[in-house]
Amino acid sequence: MAILNIVKEGDPVLRKECRPVGEITPRIIRLLDDMKETLIDADGAGLAAPQVGVMRRIAIVEKDGEYIELINPEIVAGEGEQEEIEGCLSVPGIWGITHRPMKVTVRATGRDGKEFTVSGEGLAARAFCHEIDHLSGKLFTDEAVRILSDEEVKELVG
Ligand code: NI
Repeated sequence: MAILNIVKEGDPVLRKECRPVGEITPRIIRLLDDMKETLIDADGAGLAAPQVGVMRRIAIVEKDGEYIELINPEIVAGEGEQEEIEGCLSVPGIWGITHRPMKVTVRATGRDGKEFTVSGEGLAARAFCHEIDHLSGKLFTDEAVRILSDEEVKELVG
């Protein structure tokens, strides 16, 4: 396994539409392993493949201490709403308030090739939406209700 470089806002790879994964090859498995190690090292809530320069529909989301690997994920249901603080490993130092569903259900394929669904609420719902947005070249700053000031970041994020 290896810790990968996380690309930052301004890099064109963050603005492209990612291609679906067809066959789950050893290369895809290695990418999942490396992305997980990179996410743990960066202490983030989620990581999408374009953030490590790979234009494929793959993301990892941390939910209740578990790392959920998502291949070709789609949001299939959402309910409620929330406006909470969000940040991104590719946009360091910037935090904003986003409008997201309170709960989402995601359908994806796992590394074993089997399709599954997973639901998340609160932070996990934000993370699912955020990471899946990355696969379409979207960043949270595009749709943030507002960006926090430096004073608010100090007070609310620490
Ligand atoms: Ni992000």
